[in-house]
Amino acid sequence: MREFLPTGALEEESMGNEIEDDDEMIGKYEIGKTLGEGTFAKVKYAKHVDTGASVAIKIIDKEKILKHKMVEQIKREISTMKLVKHPNIVQIYEVLASKTKIYIVLEYVTGGELFNKILNNGRLREDQSRKYFQQLIDAVDYCHSRGVYHRDLKPENLLLDAGGNLKISDFGLSALPQQFRADGLLHTTCGTPNYVAPEVIDDKGYAGATADLWSCGVILYVLMAGYLPFDESNLMTLYKKIHKADFTCPPWFSTAARRFILQILDPNPKTRVTVAQIRKTDWFKKGYTPAKFEQKDDINLDDIESVFSESTEHLLTEKNETKPTVMNAFELITLSNGLNLSGLFDTPEDPKKGATRFTSTKPPNEIIASIEEVAKPLGFDVQTRNFKMKMKGDKEGRKGHLSVATQVFEVAPSLFMVELHKANGDTLEYHSFYEDLSKGLKDVVWQSKAGTSVNAIPSKN
Ligand code: ADE
Repeated sequence: MREFLPTGALEEESMGNEIEDDDEMIGKYEIGKTLGEGTFAKVKYAKHVDTGASVAIKIIDKEKILKHKMVEQIKREISTMKLVKHPNIVQIYEVLASKTKIYIVLEYVTGGELFNKILNNGRLREDQSRKYFQQLIDAVDYCHSRGVYHRDLKPENLLLDAGGNLKISDFGLSALPQQFRADGLLHTTCGTPNYVAPEVIDDKGYAGATADLWSCGVILYVLMAGYLPFDESNLMTLYKKIHKADFTCPPWFSTAARRFILQILDPNPKTRVTVAQIRKTDWFKKGYTPAKFEQKDDINLDDIESVFSESTEHLLTEKNETKPTVMNAFELITLSNGLNLSGLFDTPEDPKKGATRFTSTKPPNEIIASIEEVAKPLGFDVQTRNFKMKMKGDKEGRKGHLSVATQVFEVAPSLFMVELHKANGDTLEYHSFYEDLSKGLKDVVWQSKAGTSVNAIPSKN
């Protein structure tokens, strides 16, 4: 057996295949079946060869977190999570790395996802739902009091242990870009914001604590109803319903439960009930026994330091630009063909001519990650560097492979312009790619308050 060294100890070639193989080793862990898989990370079952202890290992591709410039955030959040020990939170045991991967060794939870229980057996009784909700609130409150917010609480993150107790996974990995988050895995519900608070959708800056509480409210509703409070196939209709908290409770909800859920699913985060208030309600207090846990005081964060030190060095050499290029007034005017800037965003160039642009208020990393997310399934190889992207189609078109260049510019604080150019290939094929991309980027492009789209990408509504 090979001894595992914290950083850069294994050759890239050997590691590359090693984690693909189910019967291979990572340090002292014998790797078993895949528990979950996605774009950003994989979770595998593993067994410690000496102790026989079962663990789950989350395997994160270093390259991807570097590309999304998430190293510092992930390091900080993993460190915080190592300090967390709560019976309702999946524990992080240790963090290891090879040259290309980061391995987060986690507590192995055997009871599966809570929501599989609902899928298989239907909704839960009020008392049972309350028990899970109490455990959820206990864990959420514990993390909030340590300054850690989940920001993406949803069913996939709720596991059950052998004793039927709730365990939240991925508290602390909320730094990962939206589409890669949850447990770093891409799930079927990924991308549907059914559990997300209205202020998070607005993305106008929000408090993590109240946003997490909204998600807890949606989770409670699902436990008791067996279906979602907000569920629409059309994303815009879904957003509107979430914004207005437009939902109804089924007849089997008790009056107290209804009243309770209404206080949590308040679209205004300022008037939404707080954890402290929740704890005082009779509905919550029924049969409640607070979680017992010990404070960790002998935590060693050296493994995280060594795992990330190489990545950070790497990042420093890579980090030529931390922000997109800022456009000055002269460049903006040149782009808009004159002094009238209105045409810049309202009447973009015809994509048929080979170039177009749209604006977004989303952070540049999120814009880029979203473009990547949409382009890859369309068969495009995507390369990103310094807020510029090159996307090359895998199919030979009428004029060779379609190749599209993209750059994100900052035009004002928190306002970005994304410009797309056809670098190679057929214009009609570019147009068709552009249309497909538009459909997938609806959430990223900026919409004016009046609801009209002020960008190149047409809105469905
Ligand atoms: N799937 C994702 N994380 C897991 C864990 N910690 N235990 C079991 N299955 C999981």
